[in-house]
Amino acid sequence: MHLQSLAITDFRNIASGQCSLHSRLNFFYGSNAAGKTNWLEAIYFLGTTRSFRTAHPAEAIAYDHTQAVVRGTLARGESRRELAVNLGVRSRTAYVNAKREPNRDYLANMPVFACTMADLSVIRGGPEFRRKYLDEGLLSVDPGYGDTLVDYDRTLRQKNRLLRKASRKGIGAIDMKELEVWEDRLIDLARGVHLKRNLYVGELQRHFQQGLFDQEVIDFQYVSSVTADSRSDMYPARFRERIRARREAEFALGYAVVGPHRDELNLKLGGRDLKRFGSSGQERSALLVLDLARLAVYNARFDEKPLFLVDDVDAELDGRRIETLVAQAHGHGQLFFSTSKFDLPLAYSSDAALFLIENGSPTLHSL
Ligand SMILES: Nc1ncnc2c1ncn2[C@@H]1O[C@H](COP(=O)(O)OP(=O)(O)OP(=O)(O)O)[C@@H](O)[C@H]1O
Ligand SMILES: [Mg+2]
Repeated sequence: MHLQSLAITDFRNIASGQCSLHSRLNFFYGSNAAGKTNWLEAIYFLGTTRSFRTAHPAEAIAYDHTQAVVRGTLARGESRRELAVNLGVRSRTAYVNAKREPNRDYLANMPVFACTMADLSVIRGGPEFRRKYLDEGLLSVDPGYGDTLVDYDRTLRQKNRLLRKASRKGIGAIDMKELEVWEDRLIDLARGVHLKRNLYVGELQRHFQQGLFDQEVIDFQYVSSVTADSRSDMYPARFRERIRARREAEFALGYAVVGPHRDELNLKLGGRDLKRFGSSGQERSALLVLDLARLAVYNARFDEKPLFLVDDVDAELDGRRIETLVAQAHGHGQLFFSTSKFDLPLAYSSDAALFLIENGSPTLHSL
């Protein structure tokens, strides 16, 4: 599967732009603020109807316009599919071969993953970024997991509502029976989250290319706030024990401190905490190897190679690491890289499409 061509209208600074893409490797290069990230964002948008930059997609509509359109031709063997997403101020509508398609079905058409500099929060930021990263990967292979997550969050909010009340007005102010009802539900849902995240981390570990960039071993482990025991049959009992042990703390704080919303994905390089001891290049490399593992897990499940977008490919990486990453193109799906280094893509010009981006418009580099 690959994206054959793209046509974009009024998406950020891309007033109107078209290009035919290389089936394996594409570079968008140009000066700062030219529109390189916008091109990658548009591709991501075509696949997911979401932006990797903002939770408010309407921000991507060109200033002073009310609609953006991204279209693409997707090739799968001999078959071709016309994908399109219309983005209005308050709406997003997806089309396949000019027929409207419900969002949920549409997402399966063109799987795409992105790695941007903001994603370095997965390595450098708090545990919530790593949980989100895991959940996103899981959702890509198991869209139904989204319902469990939404339910878990909703139930957690209900429990927190009671804990908040108890912390402000005293334990007598809340109905303990009601708290138990929410906790039963929470434990049930937590068990599902715990099990799926553990299985997914196991899959990532199996597909992780150890030693791709660094000789030192990168190790990552899912660390539950409930139990070190990964067996799900023991999980509810352990959860209850933890809640009992932390009951006073939860009442005092006014929020729940036990559950998957407090879990962590530990990342180590050569046995040491990556966040504290890794160099910037090592951090970005580790993120990319994790991304490649996510792609491989997707591929193993669906026998389909997702698109992979890497924004600012030269940031934090030296030439050797970029070469290693590009060499991966042979094992993975279609790749899209952006860079502000004009000479970097030239080394690949015989085996890639190079687009110079100026004011949002692409010009294909020809030898
Ligand atoms: N909704 C929008 N409408 C019009 N222009 C926008 C919109 N949102 C952002 N821009 C502008 O698009 C331009 C290009 O942004 P983009 O992030 O793609 O640059 P870039 O080529 O990736 O630059 P850099 O090398 O600095 O990362 C910027 O000047 C930005 O302000
Ligand atoms: Mg950019």
